[in-house]
Amino acid sequence: MPTRKKFVAGNWKMNTTLAEAKALGAAVAKGVTDDRVTVAVFPPYPWLTAVGETLKGSPVALGAQDVSSEKKGAFTGEVSPAMLLETGCKYALIGHSERRHIIGESETFINHKVHTALEEGLSVVLCMGETLAERERGLQERVFQRQVYAACAGLTDEQFGRIVIAYEPVWAIGTGKVATPEQAQEAHAFVRSKLRQLYGDKIADSTPIVYGGSVTPDNTVGLMSQPDVDGALVGGASLKADSFLAIVKAAG
Ligand code: PGA
Repeated sequence: MPTRKKFVAGNWKMNTTLAEAKALGAAVAKGVTDDRVTVAVFPPYPWLTAVGETLKGSPVALGAQDVSSEKKGAFTGEVSPAMLLETGCKYALIGHSERRHIIGESETFINHKVHTALEEGLSVVLCMGETLAERERGLQERVFQRQVYAACAGLTDEQFGRIVIAYEPVWAIGTGKVATPEQAQEAHAFVRSKLRQLYGDKIADSTPIVYGGSVTPDNTVGLMSQPDVDGALVGGASLKADSFLAIVKAAG
């Protein structure tokens, strides 16, 4: 059995004031005392540097919720991978369903972002998942296949080594409706089988595939008990240090 280290990340989305972000970063840093689980937080862009300061000396990594598909230049409002690296970010979240479905990011655009971020030295948390309508029509595996192939097209093995995949069923995000451990396992195993076809055993066995969508301290243990569930991407429950730390603990 391959052993993959668990990865738990908190996506703060468009929440927190500066003071709240600093307090949350400091509390998470204080609560994570070992590196049994890889832990990362994804604050809003303007708070990255300040939250990064609170994480200094702790094993908690910093990530950004998005990144530009371009390296530099006349792209008003965009933030480049190099800028994120300079704020102390290790990770960028790419392809979150709120960006796919609310902002309208396409598969091609997501693939472009993944390439730019990896070329510039970031690691990527790549999100994918089906909508409720797609699941009701039994299309989820077709959707995963399309999303994996499109997002990862053209990556080298070395680049793939810096990817974490987050399976996030859209119907479970922010709804309180969590996927059952069996549903999560089925999806993760299918995604891993696609990685095996595309990249071979080594990449398929070493890539973390984490679950996201209404993760709480209460449902973490059940989800983590599944062989292909390697951690969690947490939204709402990451906004309180206590619940986020309880999820980290339950994942370890
Ligand atoms: P949620 O969000 O935990 O609030 O459902 C998860 C996510 O969007 O990453």
